[in-house]
Amino acid sequence: MKPSPTRRRLLLAGSVAGSAAAAGWALRPAPTGAPHGAYFQALAQALNSADASAPRMVIDLERLLANAALVRQQVQASGLHLRLVAKSLPSLPLLDRLMQATGTQRLMVFNLPYLLTLAQERPATDLLLGKPLPVGAARQFYAAFRGDAAALASRLQWLIDTPARMAEYRALARTLGQRMRVNLEIDVGLRRGGFADAQALATALRLLKEEPLLEFAGLMGYDAHLAKLPGLPGVRASAQAHAREVYAAFKAQALQALGLQDGPQFTWNAAGSPTYHLHDGQGAANEVAVGSALVKPSDFDLPALAPLRPAAFIATPVLKAAAFSLPFGVQGISQAARWWDRNQALGYFIYGGQWLADPASPEGLAPSSLYGTSSNQQVLVGSGAQALQVNDTIFLRPRQSEAVLQQFGDLLVVAGGKAAERWSVLPAQP
Ligand SMILES: Cc1ncc(COP(=O)(O)O)c(C=O)c1O
Repeated sequence: MKPSPTRRRLLLAGSVAGSAAAAGWALRPAPTGAPHGAYFQALAQALNSADASAPRMVIDLERLLANAALVRQQVQASGLHLRLVAKSLPSLPLLDRLMQATGTQRLMVFNLPYLLTLAQERPATDLLLGKPLPVGAARQFYAAFRGDAAALASRLQWLIDTPARMAEYRALARTLGQRMRVNLEIDVGLRRGGFADAQALATALRLLKEEPLLEFAGLMGYDAHLAKLPGLPGVRASAQAHAREVYAAFKAQALQALGLQDGPQFTWNAAGSPTYHLHDGQGAANEVAVGSALVKPSDFDLPALAPLRPAAFIATPVLKAAAFSLPFGVQGISQAARWWDRNQALGYFIYGGQWLADPASPEGLAPSSLYGTSSNQQVLVGSGAQALQVNDTIFLRPRQSEAVLQQFGDLLVVAGGKAAERWSVLPAQP
């Protein structure tokens, strides 16, 4: 018997729906994940039970020192000096270790508390401000500083970005009768402030020249934009050429206006982790700043930094492990989510959470977009292939080191398969 037209339509609709369901089924995300690999397994084993009882920031000393050796070698090969960026490495013992490993005493500092600590407790360091501090901070600094004031004047460079700030610092120098060395922030294309035209620079240089208490120390031209520009043909190359030209022109202008000869006593600072490799010693800069790359958080996963390895991880215990479920009343949604995506089969509540960090190991864990996040007990979902149990350790990789490294108390330094040292951190400060 031939099917009637209506029955034919129904059969057709049924078979379309069946194929759609089959296609949909095939589109379900495949379950992923695996237990810790050898590296993270060893790192987890290195934490003793006390260390593993709360979230910690773990530093892999061997990786850190390997990164330091590589950066040192690269920068030396370009004939440049290296300046460590203190805000990205915010721990005195960490900075000490890196100064030793990279053979530099030059530090870039971004706030008054670090400046005071470093100026007083590390008298051999050479300190350049990385942002222009309000003159009130400089006033507080001189009021609080206890140490060799004469030596300090030669090892500290304040950063000045406008003629107005130069006038403010000049007034402070006069009030205190204090010799102050100043470095001028120039805009080499980043558009984050600093001297952007010859006229403003000329005005500031005039103020500086007229004031015997102020001494010119150099320029600072940060060029992070060179690593962030879209990879369209020519865009990066022309921005890089522009940055070089602008730097060279400002440097020539400053030396000429002040009647000075170039020499190693000046600080021509440039770059940061994403761009230090662009400086080959042929440009105007005589030093590059590097911080984050030495611990390599994930924002620094750039092709140029590929040889450097991540050296800082958050380690935190699993507090609870169970089938993933949304709260009572909406649990049906999580059942559907679990059915659809087998990577949401299990939920692991970790100690802490909501850091500027992403799950690193075991593989295949992710925050739940359904459950929401928490700084107290964040849930991570997974397929179960991670074979995690309560009290096991999960590792997250920070996206940045600045501010994140300071959220866990002492840094736990792992070397030779065990937690070998604890390094105090500087207080979190922008
Ligand atoms: C002036 C300046 N130089 C250099 C850096 C580079 O720091 P890092 O190497 O940690 O990226 C920064 C970072 O913000 C900066 O502001």
